[in-house]
Formats: sequence, structure tokens, C-alpha cells
Amino acid sequence: MSGTQLLSLSGVSKSFPGVKALDNVHFDLNEGEVHAIVGENGAGKSTLMKILSGIYKKDTGDIKYRGQSVEIPSPHEAQRLGISIIHQELNLMPHLNVAQNIFIGREVTRPGGVFLDNAKLNEEAVKLLEELELNLDPKAIVGELTIAKQQMVEIAKAVSYRGSVIIMDEPTSSLTPAETESLFKIIRNLKSTGRGVVYISHRLEELAKITDRITVLRDGQYVKTLKTTETTIPEVISLMVGRAVAQDQRPTNRNVSNEVVLKVEGISDRHLLRDVSFELRKGEILGFAGLMGAGRTELARAIIGADPKTAGKIYLHGNEVKIKQPSDAVAAGIGYLSEDRKRFGLLLIQNITFNTILSSIPRFSKFGWLKIRPAAGVTRDSIAQLRVRTPSENQFVKNLSGGNQQKVVIGKWLTRNCEVLIFDEPTRGIDVGAKDEIYRLLTKLSEEGKSIIMISSELPEILRMSDRIAVMCNGRLTGVLKNEEADQEKIIEYATKFSEELSTAR
Ligand SMILES: Nc1ncnc2c1ncn2[C@@H]1O[C@H](COP(=O)(O)OP(=O)(O)OP(=O)(O)O)[C@@H](O)[C@H]1O
Ligand SMILES: [Mg+2]
Repeated sequence: MSGTQLLSLSGVSKSFPGVKALDNVHFDLNEGEVHAIVGENGAGKSTLMKILSGIYKKDTGDIKYRGQSVEIPSPHEAQRLGISIIHQELNLMPHLNVAQNIFIGREVTRPGGVFLDNAKLNEEAVKLLEELELNLDPKAIVGELTIAKQQMVEIAKAVSYRGSVIIMDEPTSSLTPAETESLFKIIRNLKSTGRGVVYISHRLEELAKITDRITVLRDGQYVKTLKTTETTIPEVISLMVGRAVAQDQRPTNRNVSNEVVLKVEGISDRHLLRDVSFELRKGEILGFAGLMGAGRTELARAIIGADPKTAGKIYLHGNEVKIKQPSDAVAAGIGYLSEDRKRFGLLLIQNITFNTILSSIPRFSKFGWLKIRPAAGVTRDSIAQLRVRTPSENQFVKNLSGGNQQKVVIGKWLTRNCEVLIFDEPTRGIDVGAKDEIYRLLTKLSEEGKSIIMISSELPEILRMSDRIAVMCNGRLTGVLKNEEADQEKIIEYATKFSEELSTAR
């Protein structure tokens, strides 16, 4: 169903120092429509949406809302018009609870005004969460929730404004398939009540399920708008990256030695992990598959000493190493690329150089001073190798697009030269073209003799990259498969092995 036009943007341009983020872009949105915006990392998707939601000011161009030219100088004005946004990088107050976050700035006051009426706030939140069928406790402190749950809080918050345009900037990047389905249900509901949804995602397979039209941006320029029913994923990809990208591959000509580099024996922790043991060989890529909450990140954090273990030993080349804190892991040559780059991976208000050399500071300092020139040189190489889209190595990381931030985290660990690298969801939020580059990079690292653990929730990626696949379920390792004997069904079987048994036991 497509009704009257809600939004129409024409000739929108926006520059930042050294970057033309948007160059003469067009876009429109109708009532009851889901319109996707796709493009590589740094293509300008989030910038366009920030202009629409009053966060950035456009340099030129015209925005019409229900046929009238409008200016959107502030988020407040966007809200007044009925435009709300779910940001790519979550934007919540970690110390407040779910209900407070949803209604932030609109707290219900008691008659007379001054005091917050928390009971009323909770009541409103319960109503909204029930309506959206979101399984969240309104009183839970947001900072203690998983990223997926925080994402749901953002969704509830955006819907709570009851506006007519809802912008979703990569809402599913940390959701499980089941959570994604519930989001789609919410979106269909919004559609049926005449709302328009702008939908940004790097998961192109979602487009066919939920969108009506797709607009492609490349390097800040408008490329094309397609009807979803009249296009295909390969066509969208080639418009995005200007070339065809291979999908559904498996590793070929792999040469993994029998030498065991890392041996993990009987790791348990207080909450979830139960007696996990495995071996990682020289030059191997070992994929870790499993459903969200299976314990893969917990295992990585226990290995690198970020969280305490209650049992278990770690050996490197047959010698036991004591890892009590992350710096012990780094010293032993084990690097961990976190899934949550904002919290653990990057210093956002520092430039790219500083972040790149962050875990190799001794190599770049002398008498307590940073050797700027070599550091900048290494960073420029890393920027070129990973194709980070930035005017220079001096750019603040917070000004990079989400996917380019992820590349900086990867660059940081490549610079550190670790023997064992643990990548936790390395391609989350990364576009198809850059994913391909990251896959090539991981393969190259393994060919140079590095040993890699790759945690990923995307089965095609696991199958494409891993020599062997370790599958976890409920804190336990349920199987290790060779690539040639694995397929999606088999992995899912192992990933759900104990879940029934455990749910009946509870
Ligand atoms: N505040 C800012 N200051 C400087 N440059 C910026 C700023 N915001 C965005 N940019 C630049 O504008 C370009 C477009 O960024 P944008 O975040 O819109 O990309 P995107 O399409 O959302 O990418 P991604 O898929 O990685 O999220 C990038 O080169 C980015 O570095
Ligand atoms: Mg973005």
C-alpha cells in the first residue's frame, strides 16, 4: 500500500572538512511504505538521515514534508514534524532504566509539576512494550542490557513518538533472526497504519522481506531507486560497489599445519561456560558458530582474561600461560577484536593514528614520547590496506562512518602483530564490498602463519572462511566440524543441541 507522499528530498548536499558526504541526493517516502537506503560504508546513509532528523544542517537542497518545504534545524523540530530516528550507534543513557530511556525528555510529572511520576512512566512503558511485543523489563538498567536489548529500547523509543516517519539506521545489526522477525512485525504494523519507514541495512537479504523500494547511494551520490519486486540482490550489490561480488564461497587450497598453537582446556566460568576445550593450529581459521547467547563472546573474554574463569588452562605452543587480565593476553600475543567497538575497541575522541597504535605503544615511543612520524606512516598504510574512507589519519574516529570505525579496530590489531587473533563479529555493520576485503585480509593473515578465531553469527560467512567450525550452545562446545562436512543445517543442529533439554530442566 502506498499513499500520499510524506517526504521528498531533492538536491541535498553536505560537506565536512575534507569530505563531500552527500552530493546532490534525492529521496522520497510515501505513507505506508518501507524505503531502504543502501550503500557501502561511508556512502552517506547516516548523514542523510541525520539531516532529516535535525542533527546535521544540509549545505544545499530542499526537503518537503507533506508537500511543504521545511527546515529541520534541530532534533526537536524533527520530532514536532513527526520524524523519529533509531540511531546506528545507540544513543541511550546507560544509567537510566528502560522506561526512563524511552520517555526521556517527556517524563510524566505529577500534578503540580515538579516530581517525576515513575509509576506512571512504568505503566506507559509496559503498555508500549506489550503493544510492540518486546520482552523487556521497564525497570532494567539500560547499561546492563545486551546490545540487542538496547536496540529494542531504541525501537520502542522511536515508535513512542507516534510520528509518521520512522528512520531505522541498521536496526538489525545486533539482533538474532527471531528478534529480527519481531522487528519486521513491528514494521509491518507501522506500514499498515500509514507510517513511512526509512530502512538502512547491510543485510541485503532482508530487503526482499520488508522493503517496497530501494535507493542506492555510492560515495555520497545518488545512484538509483528501484522497486524491490523488480530487482535482485546481485543487481543492488553491483550498483552499490560498481562491480560484482562473489557470494556463497568455501575456502580453497588451504594449507593448515598440524602444529597446535593455542590449546584451551576445560574453561568454565561462574555464569555460562561449562568445560570448553579446543585446539587452534598454525595458519588455521577456526570459526565459532552458535546462537546469540551461546557463550562465544564469554569464551573469548575468559581466554583473554577480561572476565574471570572458575576453571581451565591455556597453553601456547605446549606451555601453560597464566592470563589474568587482558594485558597478559596481549603480552602473550593474543589479540581480541571486540564485537562492541564503542565500548571496548576504540577511543572515539582520538584520531585514527592514536587508535591504530593503541595496543602497540611501546613500539612507537621513545623516552615516553610518541614517535609521531612512524606512527602516522603505519596508520596511513593501514588506512590504504583496509580502504578506510577518511580525509586523513588525523580524523577523529567519532567522525568516521560505523563501518569505517570497525576497520580502524581491525587495523589496530594488525599493527600489534599478534600470533593468535580472535575476531568477534568482524563484519558486523560492514558493507558487502568491505566484507570481501576483510575476508581476503583474514585469509592472508592465516597464510602468513597467524592463527585466527572468528566468532560470527552469519552462517554463510562461517562456511566461507573457516577451516573448522566449533559450535557452541548454552555455554558448551557441542561439536567441531571440518568445513567439508559442515552445512547450515548441521551447524544449526549443533547450535540447538541442548536448548530443549535445558529449557525443560528450568
Ligand atoms: N561529523 C562528521 N565529521 C566529519 N566527517 C563526517 C562526519 N559525519 C560523517 N562524516 C563522513 O561522511 C561520510 C559519510 O558518512 P556516513 O556516516 O553517512 O556513512 P554511512 O553510509 O552511514 O556508512 P556506514 O555504512 O559505515 O554506516 C564518511 O566519509 C564520514 O567519515
Ligand atoms: Mg551509517
